[in-house]
Amino acid sequence: MTVKFATPTEMIVAAKRALSDDEWDYINGAAESETSLRRNRQALDCLALRPRVLRDVRKTDASCTFQGVKLRMPVLLAPMGGLERFTKNGGNDVDDAAEEFGLINIISTVTAPTLEEIAANSPHPKVFQIYVRGDDDWIRALVRRVVKAEYWGIALTVDSAFYGNRERLHPSLIASRRVPARDFQKGVTWDTLKVIQDEIGSTPFMLKGIQTAEDAAMAVEHGVQVVYISNHGGRQLDYTLGNIDMLPEIVAAVDGKAEVVVDGGFTRGTDVIKAMALGATAVGIGRLQAWALAAGGAEGLVACLKNLETEIHTTMGLIGVTRLDELDGSYITKTIPVREAHEHSAFPHLPGGRLL
Ligand SMILES: Cc1cc2nc3c(=O)[nH]c(=O)nc-3n(C[C@H](O)[C@H](O)[C@H](O)COP(=O)(O)O)c2cc1C
Repeated sequence: MTVKFATPTEMIVAAKRALSDDEWDYINGAAESETSLRRNRQALDCLALRPRVLRDVRKTDASCTFQGVKLRMPVLLAPMGGLERFTKNGGNDVDDAAEEFGLINIISTVTAPTLEEIAANSPHPKVFQIYVRGDDDWIRALVRRVVKAEYWGIALTVDSAFYGNRERLHPSLIASRRVPARDFQKGVTWDTLKVIQDEIGSTPFMLKGIQTAEDAAMAVEHGVQVVYISNHGGRQLDYTLGNIDMLPEIVAAVDGKAEVVVDGGFTRGTDVIKAMALGATAVGIGRLQAWALAAGGAEGLVACLKNLETEIHTTMGLIGVTRLDELDGSYITKTIPVREAHEHSAFPHLPGGRLL
């Protein structure tokens, strides 16, 4: 597939053209009033940068180390189900882009092709994200497959006991995609962690969907290596905080005993820098990834990541740092947003400011 966009705005327009209305709504929609979705973006918009000047920024280094692995920039490709519905080779397209660019991708339980096929697609480190669709024996069997396929890490998504009510999608469409085994997710507790941990040895283990300091502290007590702050892009519980607003209290609760990842609304280099300044090790990108894939497959995703990387370097240079570990809370301050927040509000040059 040839990339047909030069800017992120053109990329989103191309994604809209390439997708059916249902797929567009599946990607962009969120739960009920979509307040959680909007708050993700609003929380980022309410942070302003405090640049320092007259520093030598000829060489900026945007790389970071995540659980001992070097990433070209502090970004993870968040897990997305149903990738095969909007990019030809499904999970393999994301995997190809992660391999080419130099990032870690997280493969969802509910994406195609199989976890073994994606593992065999390329040798770089990748993470498998678990949704529970069976009893403890089912979990053990799945984890053994993941370990055998040599995934570098395992993530358990913990914000999905119930399926969020996504009102942009027609109820019949949701019903047609719902599987009865989803109900096993309701029984997932802290005890489930041990079932997984007993099978994975020293494999990095992350909990995705932590939203309070209390649960972050419990995650650390349970030996989790990565606390991944997420409200699922606003697709699960409505009326949560914007995710970056949870970052400071969770970083404090974790107290250096685990690494902290955050996602939700991250679409710009400035967003990534804000999270780094507040103590995250990396951010996850969801919808930005989906738009890039829909607009140009694996090649489109690489182009999108290169643009994000350019934005990160530009922000670093203009804020006056050459390495990410120079960032701290002194580089940001709270302010009021300049426009209404929504999934496209970082791209105001879209026709009408938003593509519905
Ligand atoms: C189309 C789509 C599918 C998703 N599927 C999954 C999934 O299978 N597992 C999961 O843990 N999170 C899933 N998520 C949530 C993302 O991993 C991530 O938390 C969220 O998209 C981040 O917010 P953002 O889209 O604003 O970047 C999905 C998100 C989208 C947009």
